[in-house]
Amino acid sequence: MDQSTISVFCPATIANLSCGFDVLGLALKGVGDRMNVRLTSNPGVQITRITGGDLPMDAGKNVAGVAAMALLEASDFGGGVEIEIEKHILPGSGIGSSAASAAGAVWAINNLLGDPFTLPQLVSFAVAGEALASGAPHADNVAPALYGGITLIRGYDPLDIARVHCPALLHAVVLHPQIELKTSDSRSILKKTITLKQGIRQWGNVGGLITGLFTEDYGLISRSLEDVIIEPVRSLLIPGFGEMRAIALKSGALGFGISGSGPSVFALTRGADTARRTEEALTRGYESVGIPFRTFSSPVNRMGVRPW
Ligand code: HSE
Repeated sequence: MDQSTISVFCPATIANLSCGFDVLGLALKGVGDRMNVRLTSNPGVQITRITGGDLPMDAGKNVAGVAAMALLEASDFGGGVEIEIEKHILPGSGIGSSAASAAGAVWAINNLLGDPFTLPQLVSFAVAGEALASGAPHADNVAPALYGGITLIRGYDPLDIARVHCPALLHAVVLHPQIELKTSDSRSILKKTITLKQGIRQWGNVGGLITGLFTEDYGLISRSLEDVIIEPVRSLLIPGFGEMRAIALKSGALGFGISGSGPSVFALTRGADTARRTEEALTRGYESVGIPFRTFSSPVNRMGVRPW
């Protein structure tokens, strides 16, 4: 490939991590999209090919296209880009499909232009694309996709992103029941207010999870993987959720919750062996639910979007 073209891997991500709605997320290894991006002398963004997903070719309606436009508008590059997207993350699965496309597009263009923008700037361009898919700008998928590892969105206005330490043994298990749940729909069912009691419990958990991650205190991580605000509402849309949680915890998982806005669910484990055991137990358990599903397990991806 010449210097005006790059091919990138764009990782799947788990947003929220139970207690951190819209603020916490981590990047996964092994599962992700591939994108080929080429600089052109003609201005504008063109999506030239999409495989693996029924997504709009019109750049103004495509998350990667909108994110790319946001970056190009802020840059002094007078040309444009052509983007090819190979989806391997199913849209609507809850593991950051749209975020992967948005993050991949901006990372690739920035790389081809000689890295004029910082990571926080790339996150803000990618969020413009992500907002198109979810109906609300949230950065908890695009930030870990771009930074790698685990990220915290400390604030949105202005965007303030912090890297969170990731314990070496942390693994994630994902089960994707193949029903489609649009992020915009699973956001629209959420209540707009919470009680003080819920707030106290939730921010205790967020603080506990961050502290547990930095100190590699797996007991504290485990106790903090609890969501008393979002999960009680959204879990009603995921068949078998309660049973799967019981199975994951019995297999030794640290915690279990909804990945992003669902329908995928996730468990975090200490080590690959527990991840494998949890994945096998969830697989056996979900067979009786009668919905087609996929599972995978993965260590945390510390790199984020990278050349393919
Ligand atoms: N934080 C977002 C939500 C993530 O839960 O709606 C969407 O993937």
